[in-house]
Amino acid sequence: MNPAINRKIILASRPVGEPADSDFRLVEDVIPQPGPDQVLLRTLYLSLDPYMRGRLSAAKSYAEPVALGGVIVGGTISRVVESPVAGLVPGDLVLGYAGWQDYAVAAAAGLQVIDPTLAPVTTALGVLGMPGMTAYCGLLNIGKPQRGETVVVAAASGAVGSVVGQIARLKGCRVVGIAGGARKCAFVVDELGFDACIDHQRPDFAVALASACPRGIDVYFENVGGAVFDAVLPLLNMFARVPVCGLIASYNATAEDATGPDRTRAVMRAILTHRLTFRGFIVSDYAAQRQEFLETVGAWVRDGSIRYREDIVEGLEQAPAAFRGLLRGANFGKLLVRVSAA
Ligand SMILES: NC(=O)c1ccc[n+]([C@@H]2O[C@H](COP(=O)([O-])OP(=O)(O)OC[C@H]3O[C@@H](n4cnc5c(N)ncnc54)[C@H](OP(=O)(O)O)[C@@H]3O)[C@@H](O)[C@H]2O)c1
Repeated sequence: MNPAINRKIILASRPVGEPADSDFRLVEDVIPQPGPDQVLLRTLYLSLDPYMRGRLSAAKSYAEPVALGGVIVGGTISRVVESPVAGLVPGDLVLGYAGWQDYAVAAAAGLQVIDPTLAPVTTALGVLGMPGMTAYCGLLNIGKPQRGETVVVAAASGAVGSVVGQIARLKGCRVVGIAGGARKCAFVVDELGFDACIDHQRPDFAVALASACPRGIDVYFENVGGAVFDAVLPLLNMFARVPVCGLIASYNATAEDATGPDRTRAVMRAILTHRLTFRGFIVSDYAAQRQEFLETVGAWVRDGSIRYREDIVEGLEQAPAAFRGLLRGANFGKLLVRVSAA
């Protein structure tokens, strides 16, 4: 790679259904020059997250889509290369939003300096970053888990689900994970300490989930939707809480996929008769709790109460394939791209 070139991955076309390689294009550009109050950043790690699928679509959402031809957005850990700004010097490590590219200029005000002596820097994109905070805030504010209750979370080996389940264990709950495949399920039980983990690919998934939840489900942390939700709904107890965090099973769905029986009446009836609380949220709703999250979960990570697993792929050019894999469960742990070693 020529170090004087900025490689970027841009949105070449809007995916219909599952993204294709041709929806992404790697282009080369000159390295941008920082303006006043800006710094030049070299990307070290890029976070790949399910929400990016929404940004590739023009459908109305809570955030603006990536423009056609624009650099795909994404959270990053970067090294400061040039800085005219007081308080930031070359070599500093910062958390920012540089996107899928080697270099970026960014307003200094939008960056957070990372202290690499506190925790491995990659944790700022995972267990101690946006996904960890999503788990912490969604579970505690909406799920409100009580000692002895049963908490179920899907995508349980992933960035959000792994933290949800471990916090619920720390709160004294019975915790049942749902994950894709025997390896992920074994990790969730053996390494993360969940009480059970059910493979959603099993043909008898709904029966196995019911037998892992003999007292029903009090909190279901919704990461997935689809067939997993269908199996969970009949198990929800009176006054159960459902933080609706993500619906990854449908992120690639097209209008043609929206067929089948209308389940609205059954879902609304369950909500009414069981006095269920469903509450959608976006992690930014809880921005005011960031310091509390960092202190609490940071301490749990340092003392080993919370463990995490990262899935790091090498090279910016691998980002499209890795992202496509994320949407079908090919990642095992928080998915990151190492864009540069230094
Ligand atoms: N509301 C917010 O502010 C917020 C913030 C962050 C994340 N989220 C949401 O949280 C969820 C988890 O995100 P994450 O970053 O932690 O991702 P992740 O769990 O690290 O990776 C995604 C996982 O989703 C599972 N999955 C994919 N397709 C599935 C399907 N059809 N059925 C069941 N499981 C499927 C796969 O795990 P298995 O192989 O185990 O099935 C895959 O590994 C996503 O829905 C995401 O959009 C929301």
